[in-house]
Amino acid sequence: MLAPDTKTTTAPSPDRIDQLVAAHKPGHGLARPFYCDVDIYERDLERVFRRHWHCVAHESVIPKPNDFEVFRMASEQVILTRHADGSIHALLNVCRHRGAEVCTKDKGNARVFVCPYHAWTYGNDGSLRAARLMPKDFKREDHGLKTLHVRVVEGLVFISFAENPLDFTEVENLLHATCGQYGWGQAKVAYRQSYPVDANWKLAVENYVECYHCGPAHPEYSQTHALEQPLHMIEALNAAMEERTCALGIQVGSGDHWQTSENGKETIHAFRYALYDGVKTGSQDGSPLSTLMGRFTEFDGGVTSVHLGGTSFLVCYPDHGMIYRFIPKGPEACEMELIWLVNGEAQEGIDYDLEKLKWLWTVTTDEDKSIIEHTCAACARTISYPARSRRWSRTSCAISTGISTRSAGPDAARALLCRNTANVGNLRCPFRRCGFDAEAVGEGEESLKACSLPAGTRARIRAVSSPTVLQSPFGQS
Ligand code: FES
Ligand SMILES: [Fe+2]
Repeated sequence: MLAPDTKTTTAPSPDRIDQLVAAHKPGHGLARPFYCDVDIYERDLERVFRRHWHCVAHESVIPKPNDFEVFRMASEQVILTRHADGSIHALLNVCRHRGAEVCTKDKGNARVFVCPYHAWTYGNDGSLRAARLMPKDFKREDHGLKTLHVRVVEGLVFISFAENPLDFTEVENLLHATCGQYGWGQAKVAYRQSYPVDANWKLAVENYVECYHCGPAHPEYSQTHALEQPLHMIEALNAAMEERTCALGIQVGSGDHWQTSENGKETIHAFRYALYDGVKTGSQDGSPLSTLMGRFTEFDGGVTSVHLGGTSFLVCYPDHGMIYRFIPKGPEACEMELIWLVNGEAQEGIDYDLEKLKWLWTVTTDEDKSIIEHTCAACARTISYPARSRRWSRTSCAISTGISTRSAGPDAARALLCRNTANVGNLRCPFRRCGFDAEAVGEGEESLKACSLPAGTRARIRAVSSPTVLQSPFGQS
């Protein structure tokens, strides 16, 4: 992660970005330049994208020998190939002769790639097979395509641009204990969708890792997923879920190894949470979406969530899975790619209905794209950027400063009350869909009466509004 300069020196660093990092207040949002500054974006690329591991795909996208697909990340292009021997390779799509793009198709099947410029020919493991009219002392073995480090774990393909990649052992172990239980190694991709987002990638990741916004911004998700509430409020639901999982003879792992990269290890955080009573999976009405996967012989009413390396996020249900990829595209542009996984044997139209399968995370991501872009627009418009608190943005803070944030601020109760108090006040926040000014609406029972949300949700808001429960809401991130 992009950690502060740790050199011991009494003089302040002359580096502008180091100064901004040093000025960061724990528990507060990042300063405005972190979301739009070109130099900070370049440093993100250097310290996050060229240092950490990224999940690029599920290996089922290149199932046959010699299949390939090109992936675009920041300004790089990576050709992901499956060699005839079944091994997977990641090659930079840059010819070693004059730097042309060797592969000009997005995907296909090819034993070799012939550069369209001067016809240097590469095997799909990156080795240079032929180079016309070169001198006798030319060594083909010194001119293969640049290869990246690759790991395939439970069907997930990870790449690292680093010369010496971060240790992946902890990540592999936790992926076996999570995705492995859900049979992701035998899964297949049912659907993929990319969302271009007009915002810095950190705004998108920050939004993903906090669920404070879930209740107001994601009514569909919040109907079925208990994580819309702080973890300490769903302990009983989670305990019941774990009992059901245990009764199935399954142990799904969890663990928090969220850390900066200073110790040379990749970072991962896996946690579990319950669906509401009677809900089996992440569908519109809670009913099953596809055939069960992995070790599951019945639904346990639970979800396993994995955060990995800063750009890769996984969601496991017993009958399907989600891969969430965050891809930088520039200081104020990124892309979110969603990948839906199902049992490798499941057939569309028989075992699953694609429209129903993709419904929840499609509507949720449409909503997220909107609120992320509204946030970015507000950042850009604000003449004097306010000291915003971006609580529960732990991942982003860790990425940019090496600082973890967990604590809630003193106005959390008021904000929770405010966000759910409908039709009062003049301002309407896209996060809240409700009255914005808590001072105007007050904090009592009267303001809750104006709320248009269901009674159960209002009851939870009342409980959350108690000052005694403000210390660790949404403790997962
Ligand atoms: S640039 Fe590829 S062969 Fe010349
Ligand atoms: Fe969201």
